[in-house]
Amino acid sequence: MSELAQIQIAALKAVEEASSPEALDLVRVRYLGKKGDLTSLLKGLGQLLATERPAAGAEINVVKDAVQEAISLRKQQLEQAEMDARLSAQSIDVSLPGRAAEIGGLHPVTIVLRRIEAFFRGVGYEVVEGPEIEDDYHNFEALNLPAHHPARAMHDTFYFNPNILLRTHTSPVQVRVMEERKPPFRIICPGRVYRVDQPDPSHLPMFHQVEGLLIDRASSFADLKGTIVEFLRVFFEREDLQVRFRPSYFPFTEPSAEVDVQCVHCSGPGSGCRVCSSTGWLEVMGSGMVHPRVLEASNIDPEEFTGFAFGMGPDRLAMLRYGVDDLRHYLDNDLRFLRQFH
Ligand code: DAH
Repeated sequence: MSELAQIQIAALKAVEEASSPEALDLVRVRYLGKKGDLTSLLKGLGQLLATERPAAGAEINVVKDAVQEAISLRKQQLEQAEMDARLSAQSIDVSLPGRAAEIGGLHPVTIVLRRIEAFFRGVGYEVVEGPEIEDDYHNFEALNLPAHHPARAMHDTFYFNPNILLRTHTSPVQVRVMEERKPPFRIICPGRVYRVDQPDPSHLPMFHQVEGLLIDRASSFADLKGTIVEFLRVFFEREDLQVRFRPSYFPFTEPSAEVDVQCVHCSGPGSGCRVCSSTGWLEVMGSGMVHPRVLEASNIDPEEFTGFAFGMGPDRLAMLRYGVDDLRHYLDNDLRFLRQFH
């Protein structure tokens, strides 16, 4: 029985000192396993006198239960300690807010294109697109710009071969529409255009245009003026915006005019600033009455139909509307720039 007392002391000490669930399990096997110390003592009961056996057995079982109980307790402690260690090592603060998904915005040129389209759809125009890879006929010839015409020099053209090119303006879409449809119709054609240019604050080799074309039986320059002035006043959200039509030359219109608005920066004319080169005016588009030769080239009888056309640059309109000072910002993908248009 003194051996039993020693075993109890040693077992409880070993349980207390076990520093991991694995070590604790070894202690369990050592004392309570099939060949464990306490199990052996129980097996040895047979050697005792029959009268001594019940009391000795009961004593051994008390010790066995005590060791079992100590092991269970220690097991809980070790598991709890292991959990605490893992949690503090990971240190996830589940009360922190998650990473929010950012909501994107439209590109300023897209915003302007949509505003232009919304206005013209509202007054009965249809939005039509044409190919960016064009042939010489649609980009030049049919627009009264034959080979060696001096105005071709204004379009520094990207050529694939002498006949195929990147369109230098959206005017060829006019030709494609006139070839396909019977007038009257009114359309606008937004899209990308290309010219050989070194990028600088006011030039990009790829930019945008919106072409407009109306063909009808009695369309006049007065209709052109009314349409353009109304569009510009809606676009710049200024009912009293001053607009002027300056005589100009385009091979595909006659008469032709360039359209200026009063400077949106210094509110010229009369003032003048860097944005308008001190003139008080800003040029925003070209326009005119469709040249009879252009109508004829697409089999529209100029005796029966007349029309007006215009072409504007949405990149420049976006610059004026938002105070953008360099066209290259549009292509930099700099979020500090783009976020301003959310
Ligand atoms: N196509 C001209 C350009 O790229 C712009 C233009 C001027 C278009 C007058 C027109 C127009 O339709 O009538 O410079």
